[in-house]
Amino acid sequence: MSSDQRFFDFLKARIGLDVTSVGPAIIERAVRQRSTASNALTADEYWLTLQGSPDEQQALIEAVIVPETWFFRYPESFATLARLAAKRLAEINNMRALRLLSLPCSTGEEPYSIAMALLDAGLKPHQFKVDGMDVSPLSVEKARRALYGKNSFRGQEIAFRERHFIAEGDVYRLGERVLEQVRLQVGNLLDPALLASEPPYDFVFCRNLLIYFDQPTQQQVFEVLKRLTHVDGVLFIGPAEGSLLGRFGMRSIGIPQSFAFSRHTAPEPEPMPAPTYVPPPLPVRQPLRNVTPPVRHRPFATPTPPAAIAKASGAAALLANIAALANEGKSADARAACDEYLRNHEPVAQVFYWLGLLSDVAGSALQAQGFYRKALYLDPQHLDALMHLAALLQSQGDTAGARRLQDRAARSERADSERKR
Ligand SMILES: C[S@@+](CC[C@H](N)C(=O)[O-])C[C@H]1O[C@@H](n2cnc3c(N)ncnc32)[C@H](O)[C@@H]1O
Repeated sequence: MSSDQRFFDFLKARIGLDVTSVGPAIIERAVRQRSTASNALTADEYWLTLQGSPDEQQALIEAVIVPETWFFRYPESFATLARLAAKRLAEINNMRALRLLSLPCSTGEEPYSIAMALLDAGLKPHQFKVDGMDVSPLSVEKARRALYGKNSFRGQEIAFRERHFIAEGDVYRLGERVLEQVRLQVGNLLDPALLASEPPYDFVFCRNLLIYFDQPTQQQVFEVLKRLTHVDGVLFIGPAEGSLLGRFGMRSIGIPQSFAFSRHTAPEPEPMPAPTYVPPPLPVRQPLRNVTPPVRHRPFATPTPPAAIAKASGAAALLANIAALANEGKSADARAACDEYLRNHEPVAQVFYWLGLLSDVAGSALQAQGFYRKALYLDPQHLDALMHLAALLQSQGDTAGARRLQDRAARSERADSERKR
């Protein structure tokens, strides 16, 4: 089934997903997957099924969303939240509980991190309540179950796990004390009447969703977010979304790595240079995961001498460290680790990809482009570099160049999955 505008339009209308932000390949793959599952032989047949079945509509949405999240993602933002929450309680003389919203909350790691951060900062349970909301009923159901595997705990700072979770085999169950602070529900940020009967929130987290929308949709949901955020409140966004809020008249509160904005803070320098374009969403293949990159074995390779083995494992550890630092939002340290890698080891695509991503997030589009190209020079099939460079070119108006890279990414992904079969 080839590119079919009907499906792109459907997803845009239902959840705001913009095909140019993720590339057609991801949507096409979801449509193929759902067509097969519903025994449709042609695009027209699947389109008819989709039109007649709300369940199938939800299934297509589930197939295309990116639920990627983990506890204490961008840790500095939670430290900032704890400080601001104590201040806010004092400002309102403790007259009411603070209201916090995590939208989208995905599988719950974000709203539960908010609750853990506030409890650990000494707030009492009656002093705050957190609402979590997501368009995906499956994700909300997982959030309610509150059972988490190791992928939800990334980075080195995971002492909170001992305090708030109970180990059950190889998963962790969240404790009641945190659970009771969080109310979860299904909801769509595109709904103009969303939470209309609720008073505004003191703190709103809307992270890693706006990047999937085109500009008119961003404008539309920004109005919803503004209504949901108290006039004295703070809106936390993802690292790649700062330029949007600047454009809509909100100001950074000036705390680096917090990505926190208010409606009327005195002008302060942005913690990072304002991006000239919206960097792409984190690719579906999860580049910020704490993974040790795969070691590629060459067939018939000659035995490797011990010194070379030690060097190779040092390189792998360094790469894992770069991923961990980037996960924790420690951009400067991650960049330094990349430099260290390049000083001591043969250049590899993954390091240039990381440098590209770090430049992307810091708003240096030109520099990011250079790094992505170096990654592709070393590994022409590097999927994440292809996707990110495509989004960057798209944002600069080079639609043809972006399309070429997206096609290459789709071919590379197809080849990859065929190899694994
Ligand atoms: C990458 S996750 C972000 C989770 C969390 N905020 C974070 O930053 O870790 C994106 C989430 O957005 C949700 N989503 C997509 N479109 C949405 C919409 N229109 N309204 C509400 N949630 C949406 C998806 O279901 C997915 O769980």
